[in-house]
Amino acid sequence: MATSTPMSTPVDDGSPDLIGATLPGGFLIRRHVAEGSMGHVYEARGPDGQRAAVKVLHRSLMKKPDVAFRFRHEAELLDAVKSPFVPKLLARGRDEHGRPFQVIEFVDGEELNSILGERVVLPYREAIAIAIQMCRALAVAHAAGIVHRDMKPENVIVDGYPDDPKVKVLDFSVSKEADLAFTQTGVILGTPSYMPPEQARGDDVTPLVDVYAVGAILYDMLVGRPPFEADEPGKVLANLLTREPPRPRDLNPNVSRAAEAVVMRAIARKPEDRYPSMAALIDALEKLSEETARQSLVSTLPPPPSPPPVDEGTKSFASVDGGQAKSFSSGGTWWRTAVILFVLVALGVVAALASTRFLG
Ligand SMILES: Nc1ncnc2c1ncn2[C@@H]1O[C@H](COP(=O)(O)OP(=O)(O)O)[C@@H](O)[C@H]1O
Ligand SMILES: [Mg+2]
Repeated sequence: MATSTPMSTPVDDGSPDLIGATLPGGFLIRRHVAEGSMGHVYEARGPDGQRAAVKVLHRSLMKKPDVAFRFRHEAELLDAVKSPFVPKLLARGRDEHGRPFQVIEFVDGEELNSILGERVVLPYREAIAIAIQMCRALAVAHAAGIVHRDMKPENVIVDGYPDDPKVKVLDFSVSKEADLAFTQTGVILGTPSYMPPEQARGDDVTPLVDVYAVGAILYDMLVGRPPFEADEPGKVLANLLTREPPRPRDLNPNVSRAAEAVVMRAIARKPEDRYPSMAALIDALEKLSEETARQSLVSTLPPPPSPPPVDEGTKSFASVDGGQAKSFSSGGTWWRTAVILFVLVALGVVAALASTRFLG
């Protein structure tokens, strides 16, 4: 897991000051949840007792028109993406000081970031299930003409991990309608560890930046680090623009060839070499998932009555395929017997030929 520092500078606006306050609409703020780049996030109870997350813009950022616009715009975009994998916008407004806020369905679970921790590799099946759900959220966004642009493990919440992971994609704060220009100010928004080269260069963004980001997150889930890693964001960017990432199987030999091929296509340097749409990436991931299910079905079948003898030359590798350990035989007795028989037969043939010539 990389340190994924946002490129926009977070502004500390002091400690959260709204605990115990009731916001217009009857949302009672109960506890502080997180501090994001634009403001604090709290947990609240709505008038019907429902749990909600309230995002409030930092006071100091209210005077920055571009940030205030992005904050309001985020709520509109969130409202436009109707997906079971994206939390619903419940309300929006301003508090008594005029600070804009958004009320969003509360999402239980853990940030994917904290599941990944340092160098943690997720079981194959769970990694693919999480990736597919992220793709489903983004496919709906893309159909509504919205590109997320900041997909990273911090913006993905996973509930029910590891038994039955349920994903919600958060944070449309740097998202854009696909036909708007990149930024007026030339500021790079997003996180370099999961960002494609064209976004890092400031070219126009297309939905394919999200295809790359899902690929980079899947890469991280399968090998325990994102494709490009360095001790500071500037170096990550430089590597991203000039180098090829290591192949996943070089970092974790248990990644299957098929999974490596999907990841490498999703994070292809040129957008035209990637999956052309979220739907195409979902298709590829579902095939991987079916393959894994088939493999684990085979590996859970009862063993044959008398298993063949295994000698000391057998190595066992834990495989991420379906989380089932697989054995690869690197030695055995049957082939030695076969080689000896073959040599004996060959010697017999040579001797017979030689004696025929000698006699003839
Ligand atoms: N609907 C929600 N339910 C639960 N926690 C949330 C919700 N929205 C945001 N959070 C928490 O607050 C953090 C910051 O919110 P986010 O929308 O990512 O804002 P920012 O743009 O500041 O990063 C998230 O990473 C998550 O931990
Ligand atoms: Mg965020």
